[in-house]
Amino acid sequence: MSTYRSRILGVGAYVPPRVVTNDDLAKVMETSHEWIVERSGIEERRWVDPGEGGAEMAAKACTEALEKGGVAAKDVDMLVYATLSPDVTFPGTGVFVQRLLGLGEIPCYDIRQQCTGFIYGLAMADAFIRSGQYKNILVIGSEVHSTGLDVSTRGRDVTVLFGDGAGAALLGRATDDAHVLLSTHLHADGKDAEILWTESPASRNHPRITAADMDAAKHYPTMVGKRVFKHAVTRMPMVLMEGMVTNGLKLDDIDMVIPHQANLRINQMVAKMIGLPEHKMHNNIQKYGNTTAASIPICMHEAIALGKIQPGNMVALIAFGAGLTWASAFLRY
Ligand code: UT7
Repeated sequence: MSTYRSRILGVGAYVPPRVVTNDDLAKVMETSHEWIVERSGIEERRWVDPGEGGAEMAAKACTEALEKGGVAAKDVDMLVYATLSPDVTFPGTGVFVQRLLGLGEIPCYDIRQQCTGFIYGLAMADAFIRSGQYKNILVIGSEVHSTGLDVSTRGRDVTVLFGDGAGAALLGRATDDAHVLLSTHLHADGKDAEILWTESPASRNHPRITAADMDAAKHYPTMVGKRVFKHAVTRMPMVLMEGMVTNGLKLDDIDMVIPHQANLRINQMVAKMIGLPEHKMHNNIQKYGNTTAASIPICMHEAIALGKIQPGNMVALIAFGAGLTWASAFLRY
């Protein structure tokens, strides 16, 4: 039985330079800055310009994670790329990142799990490191939403929420108890899979998409917002508690919670429900919107840069998203 454990060696993030404000959106659909801020907390988001894809953004985030971790590209043993918005239908985007970074002929996993994808990726990387098979693994969350959103009043309930961006963590072997990934808990429940999804194109249909599908906006994401909201404010506290019990932690023992950035109101409600003081949760959805699999590493990267996460701190990552999926990771940074 191997005794290896993993730790985060470095975190990187990248968002495209183009800022799209709520007022920009109000010019092309019936919405307002006030409505968006009141319901979601979002003030602006970043959207890519044509030609910039998830792989390019991910490569930038990974380059920073490698620099921070002090590990050369040639020493990366595996890559996990989480996204719901792959650059092309196939192959998975991971190999494009591998090519951009000049990595070796290493395994490149592409995974989904939407907003929970980054934590699922961490769990997978952790298992490979614990087994002793690999030493250095890049876990990436990268999303380009903007090219797949209905930028009209019809799609306003979803479109105003999403942003583009990438985040990455370099996982390596832990050498002591002060910096270590302690636990991951992963969950899924497909009962309500259709309350947050994009229906077309679909390989179960022939052809995969029709003009009628497009007229019915089936190629755009749809969400039953209130039901998703209720699931989120139930599942996120539960999975946080699950991690606390596993690790024998009290709320006082946690230095920082980094929640998935879907809605500031959801995260504020989660904090209130469990009695977490405001300063122990970092949010940045105000600037970036919901970047799905990228949101946790982007938020964690910012919290580290601001000094809100210090080496050795007890950090909890929690996520909830389409699938439905939800998960937590506890670590000593
Ligand atoms: O990351 C994946 C997980 N995602 C989530 O966790 C998101 C969960 N859901 C939510 O965050 C919220 O449900 C939303 C922010 C999406 C929406 O907030 P809501 O309070 O549930 O609003 P609603 O959908 O019930 O809409 C209220 C009203 C409606 O008008 P009527 O029917 O009351 O006349 C909507 O048509 O607001 C209208 N509306 C808008 N108005 C202005 C919907 N979108 C917009 C908009 N601007 N962008």
